[in-house]
Amino acid sequence: MKSLLIKNAVVINCDDRSLNKQDIYIEDGVIREVSFLINREADETVDAGGLLCGPGLVDMHVHMRDPGQTHKEDMHTLSAAAAAGGVTTVLAMPNTAPPVSSVGVLRDILDRAKGSCINILQAACVTENMRGERLSDLEALKIAGAAAFSDDGRPVENARLMLQAIKEAARLNVPVLSHAEDLNIVNGGIINEGEISRRLGVKGIDRASEDSSTAREMALAAACGGSIHICHVSTRGSVSIIRDAKRRGVKITCETAPHYFTLTDEALLSCDADYRMNPPLRTQDDVNAVIRGIADGTIDAIATDHAPHTAQEKADFKTAPNGIIGLETLLPVSYTNLVRAGRIDIFRLFEMLAYNPADILRTRANRFAGGDRADIVLFDPHGEFKVDINRLHGKSVNTAFKNMSFYGAVKMTVCGGNIIYRA
Ligand code: DOR
Ligand code: ZN
Repeated sequence: MKSLLIKNAVVINCDDRSLNKQDIYIEDGVIREVSFLINREADETVDAGGLLCGPGLVDMHVHMRDPGQTHKEDMHTLSAAAAAGGVTTVLAMPNTAPPVSSVGVLRDILDRAKGSCINILQAACVTENMRGERLSDLEALKIAGAAAFSDDGRPVENARLMLQAIKEAARLNVPVLSHAEDLNIVNGGIINEGEISRRLGVKGIDRASEDSSTAREMALAAACGGSIHICHVSTRGSVSIIRDAKRRGVKITCETAPHYFTLTDEALLSCDADYRMNPPLRTQDDVNAVIRGIADGTIDAIATDHAPHTAQEKADFKTAPNGIIGLETLLPVSYTNLVRAGRIDIFRLFEMLAYNPADILRTRANRFAGGDRADIVLFDPHGEFKVDINRLHGKSVNTAFKNMSFYGAVKMTVCGGNIIYRA
């Protein structure tokens, strides 16, 4: 029996929207007591005076690169980066090598994940090997432990297959996550189409690529009464299509990522591929729309789309693969640009960073109730976090926030009652 006592933490309680200085007693990995003064012996006692205490973050969109691309990241380094970012649960996308579309590949990952310091959920492919030709055996994958279905990295281009997937996933009670993008519109574009792409003389991607695909997913979900989740929402159009669909009662959820409410395509004037990801950085007008969607509840979750690539791969602006890392900047960037900036309160932030993604994934985040898994982040709302690529914990350093400073530095992360990170 192992115990941990956290003293004087300001606990973020999203149920009654209260902030109270409390002590937390943890035993055998679960919360046993949360109250104003706990005087008990514990194996370890931590003074969290001055720190905010929330549920461990649930990042529903990471690319773990394991198996097959472990030169970019692996299960171990991804877990270390997550721990340093206060993230205790991740959903790993299946665009690995090989892709996760067979029970064998899925079982191997889930077996190895049992030894990880964080909770690793694994998504499986909607279509066999992400080829878009035939559905994977969704039922077998669900039975083997798939937490979601997605071809993320690519859209499911064939609408008939996507409709079938939504229906089958509804029967299995597994979420379908859509990478909503029309590849015919993308047609080789590498950044958002607009003033910046014209100035740089590079091929742009019309935002209709995202908007039209989002609209298709709404239509499919509405037609069959099933549900769909839209990944990495980045455009004004997509936010408003989702807002309208929600009003009409379509069963839809969505996520955005910190870069879509923080950065614009002006960052690309540096011609640094660390600002290239898919969907691409858009304009201030889109950033404002995403923030509005966050504030009014249209957007359900914030996920990182943590997508590690090596410095070598990112060296050439035009040919580099898309994607940026994000686990260690998730909380500071979101806290600074949403809560400190006065857009939302701290409770709404933790709904988007933990409770809503947990609900979408049919799991439960810690609500600081007796018996809850002791997954916790402690962070300093006034503590500065400077993004120093030499001090990150993953294998790759392709962050779009390098050298920037944010408030909300993570000081400690507890997962299943174990201290897995200490600043
Ligand atoms: O930027 C991205 N990177 N977007 C994706 O959809 C895939 C991801 C990756 O796997 O690198
Ligand atoms: Zn994607």
